[in-house]
Amino acid sequence: MIGNVLLAFLAVPLTARAAPTEGKGWHFVQNGTTGIVALESIIVSDTLALLFDRATNNPLQIDGHPAWGALWNLETNTASPLNVTTDAFCATGSFLSNGTMVSIGGHRPAIPEAEDGRNGLRIWEPCDDPNGEGCILFEDPETLHMAETRWYATSLRIFDGSIMIIGGVHQRTPFNNDDPVNNLEFFPPKDGGIPRPLDLLERTLPANLFPRSFALPDGKIFMAAANQTIIYDFEANTETRLPDIPNNVRITNPLDGTATLLPLHPPDYIPEILICGGTNTSDQLPVEELSSQTPASDQCSRMTLTPEGIERGWEIERMLEPRMMPEMILMPNGEIVIINGAQSGYAAFAGVKDPVGNSNADHPAFTPSIYTPDAPLGQRISNAGMPTTDIARVYHSTVTLTQKGNLLIAGSSPNPVVVNDTQYPSEFRVEYLNPPYMTVERPQLSNVPKQIAFNSQFSVDVSIPSRLTQGDLKVALMDLGFSSHAFHSSSRLVFMDAQLSEDGKTLSIKSPPNNRVYPPGPAYIFLTVGDVSSPGARVMVGNGATPPVEDQGVPI
Ligand SMILES: *[C@@H]1O[C@H](CO)[C@@H](O)[C@H](O)[C@H]1NC(C)=O
Ligand SMILES: *[C@@H]1O[C@H](CO)[C@@H](O)[C@H](O)[C@H]1NC(C)=O
Ligand SMILES: *[C@@H]1O[C@H](CO)[C@@H](O)[C@H](O)[C@H]1NC(C)=O
Ligand SMILES: *[C@@H]1O[C@H](CO)[C@@H](O)[C@H](O)[C@H]1NC(C)=O
Ligand SMILES: *[C@@H]1O[C@H](CO)[C@@H](O)[C@H](O)[C@H]1NC(C)=O
Ligand SMILES: *[C@@H]1O[C@H](CO)[C@@H](O)[C@H](O)[C@H]1NC(C)=O
Repeated sequence: MIGNVLLAFLAVPLTARAAPTEGKGWHFVQNGTTGIVALESIIVSDTLALLFDRATNNPLQIDGHPAWGALWNLETNTASPLNVTTDAFCATGSFLSNGTMVSIGGHRPAIPEAEDGRNGLRIWEPCDDPNGEGCILFEDPETLHMAETRWYATSLRIFDGSIMIIGGVHQRTPFNNDDPVNNLEFFPPKDGGIPRPLDLLERTLPANLFPRSFALPDGKIFMAAANQTIIYDFEANTETRLPDIPNNVRITNPLDGTATLLPLHPPDYIPEILICGGTNTSDQLPVEELSSQTPASDQCSRMTLTPEGIERGWEIERMLEPRMMPEMILMPNGEIVIINGAQSGYAAFAGVKDPVGNSNADHPAFTPSIYTPDAPLGQRISNAGMPTTDIARVYHSTVTLTQKGNLLIAGSSPNPVVVNDTQYPSEFRVEYLNPPYMTVERPQLSNVPKQIAFNSQFSVDVSIPSRLTQGDLKVALMDLGFSSHAFHSSSRLVFMDAQLSEDGKTLSIKSPPNNRVYPPGPAYIFLTVGDVSSPGARVMVGNGATPPVEDQGVPI
């Protein structure tokens, strides 16, 4: 660990991992059904996840017609339909600096009850009711919409608390991006609402959908599309090319790999990018020539975004299996779960010469792996102790960390509408992946301030089980991200320095130095002691104002 914690109460920095005989270890729990295909998911409170699907023949009903939005209650394991106006099929989303969540983009609906969602903006104001009663998704398509129609765009909260909306396709395309939106825009709008062209998107056609993008701690944006990567300086409006992803591996839809910004550590917050999966298949072949049986890529590529790191280039590591459409989930202890996807084929549906059912992909990856960023190269990826599921999570599946600290896994449907009796059906079953700490006594946080300023010291009360008092401490500030199409946009983990009081009951924590290290907005704080993480405590980071907000805190 690069000084992410002051080892406050230890003589020996020994990690007190929960004894293997304690609790159930990693395990899956299947409980409840969503009633819509959860092809997008985002945690909006301690008890609720917001899910979106295509407006089509879903079993969950509202006002006598199928629903295409739902609230998943993490306490009761039930879905309630949400009254959505426009079709949110293959949209994206993010929180703003004022705590409002915006769902972005969509499609032309397959049922008459929905309106065209291609330039849709759907507003979810902060809502405290634990069951979501009285919470609404506000839309006014006439007056509140994007400049462009966008399907398969990426959205990303940036340092002024606005959302950058990147790329996409104007409307439905069976496989490749053949009607591209090679530009970006913002919400709330900047530049008088005129989108900015982005060369990266021109260069990476035709497989550049959901460009994998991250806000870097200096405020610039890292983007990857196809096998290319750049740093985009949005203040100067310049693109700087970085080394290509090695070995011709491509990672954007419909050739989906996934990517994450590794946890950021004080005091330097040096950004490192990890990209895994995808395929080395050429993007120049017609989809009818592709096969569901072609192995995906098992490659993970990692680069440090400093001048020396870029000079060294990408470091390669291999997953335990190839994965098309995996996701990577940052865990509160700084490790990463690699989960979901298929071992062969491609994203999208009913396009390749040998679809399985309707699926362009086959051989689901049923066993998650753990990636340990601090381990030596070649020893970072393991599935020791990981359980195996029998529920395929291929195209249109999602996974997200919850406030409880487990993973909510839902969706999967490589089908144009709801289809049940096929090899890869529309999947409504919810599964949780529970880490070992879910079944042992855990640290708890209390009296956590509702709002924290940048570069400030604040205190929280803690209760740490006595068996863990030898463990080292990590305090993570996390954006749990928005899961859609093998990418978790705005997902982020920033470690915070922390010191435990002598009586072991109070933790004094230093917040991130400024709004570029953590783009202002909602977050969860998790305390990990040894290897046991607490449930999360929700906070607002920054001044909570409506974007664009001014720079806050101090430069690094
Ligand atoms: C698919 O199965 C679900 C139950 O899992 C059912 O509610 C729904 O009506 C079925 N839909 C179709 C189109 O067969
Ligand atoms: C499913 O969730 C409900 C509500 O939390 C709970 O009562 C029930 O015990 C759970 N079932 C399983 C099998 O975990
Ligand atoms: C959904 O919204 C429509 C349009 O505003 C309204 O007519 C309808 O009553 C709402 N339905 C529910 C269940 O709130
Ligand atoms: C990236 O793809 C292009 C073809 O589009 C290829 O010419 C180039 O060599 C690839 N880069 C790497 C590092 O494989
Ligand atoms: C492409 O990927 C496959 C599957 O990982 C691998 O077997 C093959 O050697 C790769 N081909 C090239 C040219 O890198
Ligand atoms: C946050 O800002 C957005 C965009 O201006 C606005 O629509 C929303 O109502 C604001 N939310 C709050 C809670 O002020």
